[in-house]
Amino acid sequence: MSLRVAILISGSGSNMVALARSMQGDHPARPCLVLSNRPDAGGLARASEMGIPTAVVDHRPFGANRAAFEGALQEALAAARPDLIALAGFMRILGPDFVGAHAGRMLNIHPSLLPKYRGLDTHARAIAAGDSEAGCTVHEVTPALDDGPILGQARVPVLPEDTPETLAARVLPMEHRLYPLVLRRVAMGDKTPITLP
Ligand code: GAR
Repeated sequence: MSLRVAILISGSGSNMVALARSMQGDHPARPCLVLSNRPDAGGLARASEMGIPTAVVDHRPFGANRAAFEGALQEALAAARPDLIALAGFMRILGPDFVGAHAGRMLNIHPSLLPKYRGLDTHARAIAAGDSEAGCTVHEVTPALDDGPILGQARVPVLPEDTPETLAARVLPMEHRLYPLVLRRVAMGDKTPITLP
């Protein structure tokens, strides 16, 4: 029996596509749901094209009531019975109750070499700091933002002429390599951190 993976997105879903494409053949997992908090997320159509069930839990009607939003998320997820949850550009902060309910079974990809640059604008901050390298991190999700045990990292150089956009364009293909690799390892029970390239 394959493990069931729910993928949570907010945007174009390029990491979701990379994960979903990887879950074929002898891979121990299959995607069971793509869930977005934004009805207009481009990744929803891409998931449908790939034959993956989709759902939307729009955060806006819930306003500041995060508990109610997370309750609705839980309901949508429970229906899909995931064994693992992969956050892939999901841009809402999840509270301790939600995270605790999925402890050890929820992964996230973040576009920096954690523990550097938690939060937003990671590439601009790496450039402003004069860093010579940047990258991305896949980690287990814990209640603290962009924290939790690191499962994998990929590094790229920062070039003198880089803008946040050119750096993001160099990091993103590494995200698409790293996240499927880590997901496969975790699905096989291996949480030993890996480094790319
Ligand atoms: C990715 O770069 C991902 O690392 C980042 O959002 C982008 C989503 O792109 N995630 C975060 O910043 C989470 N804090 P995608 O929708 O094309 O996968």
